Amino acid sequence: MVEGGDSALWARVFAVIGRTGPREEFLRSFHAEHPAVTGDALGGGRAPDGRSSYAILADRVAGRRRILDLGCGDGVLLELPAAAPGRRLAGVDLSPDSSALARRRPALAGTGLAQARAQRLPFSDGAFDACVSHLALMLMGDAEKVVAETARVLVPGGVLACAVGGGAVGGEAYELFGSLRGAAVRRAPGTQRIPALGGRRTRSRAGLAGLLAPAGFEPPRRETVEIDLSGPAERVRAAVSGIYDVGPLAPAAVAALRADFLTGAQSLASADGRVPCGFRVHIATARRAA
Ligand SMILES: C[S@@+](CC[C@H](N)C(=O)[O-])C[C@H]1O[C@@H](n2cnc3c(N)ncnc32)[C@H](O)[C@@H]1O
Repeated sequence: MVEGGDSALWARVFAVIGRTGPREEFLRSFHAEHPAVTGDALGGGRAPDGRSSYAILADRVAGRRRILDLGCGDGVLLELPAAAPGRRLAGVDLSPDSSALARRRPALAGTGLAQARAQRLPFSDGAFDACVSHLALMLMGDAEKVVAETARVLVPGGVLACAVGGGAVGGEAYELFGSLRGAAVRRAPGTQRIPALGGRRTRSRAGLAGLLAPAGFEPPRRETVEIDLSGPAERVRAAVSGIYDVGPLAPAAVAALRADFLTGAQSLASADGRVPCGFRVHIATARRAA
């Protein structure tokens, strides 16, 4: 979880960003400090049917043999299909630190894990029967290129299944944290703000359909799932704090955010101390036309 910024580190990061382009350099730097942040935050979350968002996505490609995870992070998602026999799995991620964690998972011993950009996939045409992407496609620049590359490495009839963030359910801890975080970021100097990440097209039904069609995908099937992250206040705080724009904030700002959140969460908590927290995820599946 993001526990506080190291101002000197982030000053160096922003200096590098000036030379190499903001989005990907920021993501690499953030995940160098927090290589397992998404799985830690969302791995314990559950949809109403009891599955995690990772399990929902894995189920969308059940039965497909060769599966590529785009923006695989530390490999949480890939572990699920790895449990089934006969799978050939691969993952790419920008972050060497997250990829290194994925490589350390015993279940992924036979998996091809590459530090690579989804805009330029190091695989031959038609190498996969399915591609998955959990909370990553929405962050990627040049989404048209990513989608074209995805179509290229899929066989005709292959499937892309992706999960993108849909924001707070409302009236609960994620929303509370979002408003406190927004205020903290507005108060922070410009050097502590993150670059724009991803485009909005992946987050809407029509936007995603418009992005996928030129690459040869059929119209996507999309559903919105509410992931329950409720629990004790400190656990909920840790989960919701794993958000990119907390990373560069000064330690004092992060400490104040934490204190304000824990105070506000008290009024949301039920008698047993459980703080309600929900996060919406849009899950889309699209087939590459045969
Ligand atoms: C929010 S994390 C999600 C990680 C993992 N999919 C999960 O859900 O646990 C987003 C991941 O996408 C990766 N990423 C972002 N843009 C990328 C790109 N263009 N190519 C490859 N990976 C990328 C980041 O490095 C990061 O590990």
